Amino acid sequence: MSDRIELKRAKKLKGGIIPPPDKSISHRAIILSSISKGRSVIKNFLRAEDTMSTLNAFRKLGVEIDDRGKKIIIEGKGIHGLKEPEDIIDCGNSGTTIRLLSGILSGNSFLSILTGDESLRKRPMGRVIKPLRQMGAEIIARAEDKYPPVVIKGKKLKAIKYDMPMASAQVKSAILLAGLYADGITEITEPIKSRDHTERMLPSYGAEIKVDGLNIKIKGGAELKARDIDVPGDFSSAAFFIVAALLIKNSDIKIKGVGINPTRTGLLDVLKKMGAGIELVNTRDVSGEPVADIYCKGVKVLKAANISKKQIPALIDEFPILCIAATQADGITTIRGAEELRVKESDRIKAMVEGLRKMGVEVEEFRDGLSIKGNTKLKGALIDSHNDHRIAMAFSIAALIADGTTTINGISAVNISFPGFYKMLRTLMR
Ligand code: S3P
Repeated sequence: MSDRIELKRAKKLKGGIIPPPDKSISHRAIILSSISKGRSVIKNFLRAEDTMSTLNAFRKLGVEIDDRGKKIIIEGKGIHGLKEPEDIIDCGNSGTTIRLLSGILSGNSFLSILTGDESLRKRPMGRVIKPLRQMGAEIIARAEDKYPPVVIKGKKLKAIKYDMPMASAQVKSAILLAGLYADGITEITEPIKSRDHTERMLPSYGAEIKVDGLNIKIKGGAELKARDIDVPGDFSSAAFFIVAALLIKNSDIKIKGVGINPTRTGLLDVLKKMGAGIELVNTRDVSGEPVADIYCKGVKVLKAANISKKQIPALIDEFPILCIAATQADGITTIRGAEELRVKESDRIKAMVEGLRKMGVEVEEFRDGLSIKGNTKLKGALIDSHNDHRIAMAFSIAALIADGTTTINGISAVNISFPGFYKMLRTLMR
């Protein structure tokens, strides 16, 4: 199968879709159910490469997982029930898998070795190694503890007080999970609030956790209890369709069952400020997470936006698609304080600058972001996904408003988070 797609201008998008299940919550559902006592049923589990990396990792750690497609049944082993894996664990492309697993394995008294694909082996691990060592874990990594593979010999952990140097839900979650194995109360302070799915989910499995603004305390030593969980739709996947509907004239779509946790929906706030008419209806709770249906229509004029550091965590994964919206806004959109994007599945600042310039957009690159000149007529181009799912999907949406043909290379990357992306897009095209 060829790993490229050719796309042309779309007339309009119409209809209703249900986005794929949330990736972050699917990972956490596998992780927490595996270390709980008893049977957990996960409904609406995301079947994508990243979340399958987590599922397969826990099988290697001795957890019985019955995979019935979107329904997953886990026979949880309890907090001390994991077993030493016979081989290294391959976390594929998934930063969430390797970082959260590092936290758990630090408290398990056996040897484990975690690695991943070419992209994951370039992603920083020092940010989790530092606090986990302070807790007493024996943990080392390649290139003087910078990159995977990571070798962990679990130990009895002690609680620490940790001021996080960066906003990262993966780092926060790694420490919280290690905190389950620590003596005493582990305390974490974040510089800016990052996604809080771990904190929302842990108490429902029986953990004792207290959240006070940017400060989180977790008590070690508790046994977790199995629970059933229903995973809401992924806002980060829905985001591509939200922006597509805004940018393609006469579009009118409904996206059903989307997670609208405020630590995830920074893009909505920005788009509304830019002048987009987006409506949230039927707001409800699904397994402790807010969920809504989202109505989205084509918009005549968008205004440029100025985005700064404190806004970044709540829209971190929406940066690529926000850049596409900015190309159509009136004025210059600037995004700063986003240096974390340089260490995602690809260097997303570089990948967006490169692709946007190819499509004829005037862009200035900064160490920590970029600025984009709006009101630009995009022209079809040859785009490289850099094997990054969100870069592939963002430029696929750009292609639908561009003159001529856009070819995107490396589209199999979408399987990381959204295997049915192109099929879903086709169901909306009129
Ligand atoms: C994630 C956290 C974010 C995000 C990633 C998923 C998570 O990463 O970019 O796609 O599930 O915790 P960081 O925590 O490294 O910012």
